[in-house]
Parts: sequence; C-alpha cells; structure tokens
Amino acid sequence: MIVDLGAKSTNIAISKQGELVFSRSISVGGEAFTRAISKFFGIEAMQAEEYKRTYGMSSNKLQGRVRQALEPVFSSVADEIKKSIYYYQSEENGEIPKSVIISGGTSALPEVSLSLTKLLGVEVVSGNPFSKVILDSSVIKSISGFAPFYSIAVGLAMNDA
Ligand SMILES: Nc1ncnc2c1ncn2[C@@H]1O[C@H](COP(=O)(O)OP(=O)(O)OP(=O)(O)O)[C@@H](O)[C@H]1O
Ligand SMILES: [Mg+2]
Repeated sequence: MIVDLGAKSTNIAISKQGELVFSRSISVGGEAFTRAISKFFGIEAMQAEEYKRTYGMSSNKLQGRVRQALEPVFSSVADEIKKSIYYYQSEENGEIPKSVIISGGTSALPEVSLSLTKLLGVEVVSGNPFSKVILDSSVIKSISGFAPFYSIAVGLAMNDA
C-alpha cells in the first residue's frame, strides 16, 4: 500500500506485483493538520505550520500538545486507510498489505511513521523515490531531506523510461 500525504488530499493505493489494484482519494491533508493546530492554540496559520513541522506527532515535545491538536484529524486519516484495507479484503478478496509506504510533504511530519504504524497495525515506512535512480553522492546529500516531495515527479519520469 502506498499513501501519498499531500496538502489538500491523501491518496491511497494498493499495488500488487507492480499493478495498481486499488485506489482512493480523500480530501484531508496537511492543510487540515495546520488548521487543527491553528484552532487548538488560537494561533495564525504560519505559526501553526511551524509547530506542525517542528513537533508533529511527538508526544514528548511541547508536552505532546501539538500531537493532541493533531490527533482527531490524524485518526480520521488513519481510519480511512483502515477502511480501504478492509474494503480491499472483503470486497475484492485482497490480502492485508505487507507494509504501508508513505510519501508526499505531510509524510515529513515528525513521528508520522510510528504513530501510523500503531493505529494501522501494519508497518509504515517512508518511501525513497530515489532508490532506483543513479545519483552522485554529493547530490544524494543535498536532496535526501526533500525525498518526500519527489515521489510523483520521479515516478512520472520513470514511467517514460
Ligand atoms: N516537515 C514537514 N512536516 C509536516 N508537514 C510538512 C512538512 N513539510 C511540508 N509539509 C506539508 O506538506 C504539504 C505539501 O505536500 P505536497 O507537496 O506533497 O502536497 P501537494 O502535492 O502540493 O498537495 P496535494 O497532493 O494535496 O495536491 C503541505 O501541507 C505542507 O504543510
Ligand atoms: Mg500531491
């Protein structure tokens, strides 16, 4: 299963032996996460965005208050992912995905993998869109932090290859 966590939406896909066998899009993403923090603390969107990127789902930073603000919207995304797994199993006779690979800007949220793994009961890992791309070691260093943003671009480029 691949979950692309974007700004306005979250795209869920299941691929089996390289074939797309299930896909679904939900209209919740990073912007809704920022809005939840903004409301919870009564702060401007810009500051809320910074809180989100700095503290994310961490339970020990800022006494887990940012996590607390994010929990309802984060759980709603996790619930939709669970529903997709359930639907794929029950209606399509599919298997439970072995792992969930996350991508997109919101996948850079601190402690997102651990939190999502706990809620889904399936291992969640960050995707590396450069894994099949030959790169110079200096380039690897400079782009590694931006990997979550490159999955769509690299995927489209590979499609042409
Ligand atoms: N370090 C970070 N921690 C948490 N969220 C982040 C981080 N960096 C970027 N984001 C969030 O990632 C989102 C942008 O991600 P991305 O570029 O994948 O979205 P998009 O593809 O433009 O949106 P969509 O797929 O919804 O059309 C924004 O909501 C931004 O706040
Ligand atoms: Mg996107």
